[in-house]
Formats: sequence, C-alpha cells, structure tokens
Amino acid sequence: MAKVHITDLVLRDGHQSLIATRMRTEDMLPICGKLDQVGFWSLEAWGGATFDACVRFLREDPWERLRKLRKALPNTRIQMLLRGQNLLGYRNYSDDVVRAFVQKSADNGVDVFRVFDAMNDLRNLKVSIEAVKAAGRHAEGAICYTTSPVHDIPHFVGLAKGLTEMGCDTIAIKDMAGLLTPYTAYDLVCAIREATHLPIHTHSHATSGLAHMTHLKAVEAGATLIDTSVGAFAEGASHPTTQSLVAALAGTAYDTGLSLPLIEEISAYFKEVRKKYWQFESAFTGTDTRVLINQVPGGMISNLANQMKEQGALDRMDAVLDEIPRVRQDLGYPPLVTPTSQIVGTQAALNVLTGERYKSVTNEVKLYLQGRYGKAPGHVNEEVRKLAIGDLEVTTCRPADLIADELDKLRGEIEGLAKSDEDVLTYAMFPEIGKTWLQERAAGSLKPEQLLPPGASQEDSAPRYAADEFKITLHGETYHIKLSGSGRSDAAQRPYFVSIDGVSEEVLVEPLNEVAVSTGSDNTPRKTAATPAPGQKPRASHPGHVTAAMPGTIVDVLVKIGQTVKAGDGVLVIEAMKMENEVQAPIAGVVISIFCKKGDAVTPDMALVEIQPE
Ligand code: CO
Repeated sequence: MAKVHITDLVLRDGHQSLIATRMRTEDMLPICGKLDQVGFWSLEAWGGATFDACVRFLREDPWERLRKLRKALPNTRIQMLLRGQNLLGYRNYSDDVVRAFVQKSADNGVDVFRVFDAMNDLRNLKVSIEAVKAAGRHAEGAICYTTSPVHDIPHFVGLAKGLTEMGCDTIAIKDMAGLLTPYTAYDLVCAIREATHLPIHTHSHATSGLAHMTHLKAVEAGATLIDTSVGAFAEGASHPTTQSLVAALAGTAYDTGLSLPLIEEISAYFKEVRKKYWQFESAFTGTDTRVLINQVPGGMISNLANQMKEQGALDRMDAVLDEIPRVRQDLGYPPLVTPTSQIVGTQAALNVLTGERYKSVTNEVKLYLQGRYGKAPGHVNEEVRKLAIGDLEVTTCRPADLIADELDKLRGEIEGLAKSDEDVLTYAMFPEIGKTWLQERAAGSLKPEQLLPPGASQEDSAPRYAADEFKITLHGETYHIKLSGSGRSDAAQRPYFVSIDGVSEEVLVEPLNEVAVSTGSDNTPRKTAATPAPGQKPRASHPGHVTAAMPGTIVDVLVKIGQTVKAGDGVLVIEAMKMENEVQAPIAGVVISIFCKKGDAVTPDMALVEIQPE
C-alpha cells in the first residue's frame, strides 16, 4: 500500500475558515523555513478568498505574496485553488484571460492547480486544465462533493472519468461542507479507483465532526493524499489537525513519515499569530452538525447571519435556512460552494425578506437559469425559470464560448495604472476594488485595515449607532426630537437644527466631552454621535418609495427624473452579498426624486427613488 502524503492548508483554507482569510504575509514568512523542512506533498497557499482579502482588506499585492512564498519555500510545492473558468472571481472569464491567469500564476510560483467548478460542469474546467498542462504544472481536477437526489456514486465516478480524460494528474474530492461520511468516502474512493488510475486526494472540512474518520476510511480505500491544517488553524470550520492524522497513520502502511515535533513547533508559532487576529474569530468554533440536516455550509450560515443581522432581520434566519434547500432544488441541486452558495443564499434571503418567492430575482439567478454558469446537475424548476427569465433563450453550449477574448480590452481599461500583466489580472478579478487598489498604490496610500489591540473589547468591533430621531422624557413631559442638521463642528457652541414635536428649533450645544463612534465594517471613526451623514436618504414611508430588500451598494440607477414607469419595471441595480439584484418599481407612476447614486451604500429603511402615481 502506498504511503500517504499530506497537503497542509494553514496558509489558505486554515485561516480562511477560521479568521476570515486575514492572515498577512508578514506572519507567514518567518515560519516558511520550518514549513519547508516538513516534507509536505504541497502547501496550499493561494486561492480566490486569499486573493480577494489581500486586495480588499490587507492592501497587499497577492502576486507579491506568491513570489515571496515561492522564495521562502524552495523545496515544497505551492498549491492553489482555482474556480475553473471563474478563476478567482465571480463570473466566467474569456479563454484568453484564463490562459493568461494560469500562466502568470505558474510563472510566479504555483506548482499544483486544484481546479473546480461549482456546478461540476467539466466544460468549465477544460481551458484551465489545458493551460495548467501547457505551463508544465500539476493539474488536480476537483469534484465538489454534495448530497442530493441526483448526486450518487455513479454521478461522481462519471466526473472522475471525465477529469482523467482531460489530462488531470490527480483527482480531488472536495467536501467543502463536511458532508462526506466515512463509509460513503470508502465506497466513493473505491469506485473512483476502479474507474481511474489517478491518485486520489481528499479535502474534507471538520465542521460536522466527521472529517478525521472520513480521511481514515478514504485512506483505507486507497486515497494517497489528504488535506489537513496544522493544529493552530485546524478543526471547527477548518480541517482535521495535521498532527492528529500524522500520529494516527504512524507505524502503519500509510505512515506519512513526517516529524511530529517539527509540526508541533510550527503549530506553536501559528497559535501566537492567531491571537493577533482575534477580532475575526467566529463565535462558533466547535463542531456544527446543523449542516448534516440542512446541507448549508457553516461559512454560508455565518455570512447570511451577518447580512440578516445588519438589517435587524436575524429573527427571519430560520426561515432563510428552510428556504435554501427549496431554492437549491428549484435550481437543479447545484453544490453549494462559491459562487453557487452566494447565488442560492441571496435568492433565499430575498424570497423570505420580500415575502413572496421570486418576486425579486437576482441577476445571477437569471443568468444561472439561462445556462450561463453551465449545466445544472439536476432538473431546473421550469415554472421558476419562466418567472425569472420569461422567454429568454437558454444556452446549452459551454458558457465561455459566448465570451469574446477580453484581455486586450481589460488592458486598455486599466492603462497607466497597471504596471504588469499581473496588475491587469488583479483588475480583471475585482474591477472595483482592484482599480482602487492600483490607484492607491500609485498614490502611495495603501494601508492595511486596522487590527484591534489585544484585550480591546469585542464591542469595539461591533457597529455602533447614534439616534438622529428619538423621544426624551424630561420632568414628566415627553418630546419627540428629530435632528436635521448641525453647524460648524469646530465652534465652541455648536448649533443643532432639530424639530421638537414638529416645530423647528435651533439648539446650541457646547460639547464637554466627545467620543468617536466607530463602525465595525470599515474602521472609519465617525467624529460625533449625532451629525447626520451628508446626503442622507429619507426614510421610506409611502408606497411610491423604492427600497432595497437588503443592505447593499447601488450598482446602477436605471431611471431618470420625469420617466414614467410601470409596476415591476427595473429601477435600480443593487449589489448585496456579492450578488446583483434588480429593484423594481413598487407602483406605476412618474419618477419624481432619485435619492441615490452609483456607489452609495444603502439599507432597507431608506427611500432610494420616489414614484408618484399618475
Ligand atoms: Co475548503
């Protein structure tokens, strides 16, 4: 029996699963010398979320990180996770962008490319696997494991055969939600081995508490590569502990041959590192067995819970969790992994929050139902399809066949700011934040997000709110007060313009003490408590006010003042939870006010557009 090899995930999935992907390069490099000595088959170090977090929060150059890791790990394969035709972004890219991205990743240091597609549509893996082979690197084709009436062992074996025919070097079983049970893993690995000679690599999240057992049974069935994370970033939503698996297999035919004391030393280092990022720790780090019942991955639950909390709808969370399997069924049982987890989760949240299923449909669901993400594993609900896209054509070809080469166009869009093809690709992955990042780099103003000092209270990272409309009771009299503005903030006596029981008054306030009010999300201190933000939107109060169903950012305003609209016409496009969603006119009439513009952050209580009935 072949010995078992280990891929350690601490530099990618470990911190992604436990501290929201926030580990900085400066905390990785000092331990690379030791990591490089262990003899891991590979170190997973790069992927969509690490790339995104580098640009968005850490303001690092993800390519620079890769080059530094390459230099610091001369003897170990560096592995990355690639979303097939989606690369590291959320849409399908043209083939020339896919080829350029894979080549540049190889040039900068990636040895092993684990390539997956959220739909398990192998056509979406074709070009990236070809590109990996053309770059002379290791192509690992991944099967997303999930459970549903259409996901049985023959289905997965068919995928494994397809990946073998495409020229993959190894096959990964990617169990992103921790749904794979030990005995199913045994049967699955046996069945895949009968169908292909390729080595099998298992990736199973520890969320539900099954992954150690699952790896063990997979190994007994003949899997020779397993994914683990050093103890300090293991377990919970992450992966089984490297040390435990090394110990479990020691002295058997499957002995990994790795040194436990050396891994323990590395783990002790990361234990200290983790403390620095305490503010990103999820409240829930133990075993979470809910996934075994509702099949909703842990990461997706916490994302959704945050979104629901932001708009004070946390009490609807159970309804959303119930709705997710129904939406997934309507969409033909896609596995839930980026980007399908966001597509399904956001639609489920909209179905609950709007009070009517598919009343508002995200653009991504519309594209999905047009076949633009690939073929669904099962049957799509035709009624829902009709409701969402009407008579629009449903494509059956490989989605990227419809996308013309776009690398030159992207180069043109970012000319002057991009200093290399890597920069162009950063922009291609994340057009908005990538561009801002390049601009700030040019201006020399890139600064990582602030970390809270150890010992600061958890409260400090939570958003704080100041009332701008409230009631006060003084000596038995209650007054209704609404703040409408304030004067110069540097004056000793600051005028506030308020309405008291509906009567406008100017009140002079002499501040004796002021505290900064911070928001947890952007770390921007707000100077005073009671000043309304400029451009504040009126509160939605009548049927002609157009509102968003969930907090998000305005992507597009589709109407102009004076325009006549019918009920149901698209008025705005909003990005919420990474999905774009069209907001429709609640009533027919004429647009008389537009209170928002592209880029505005909005919440459901705001009036965004006002329509006057005719
Ligand atoms: Co994972």
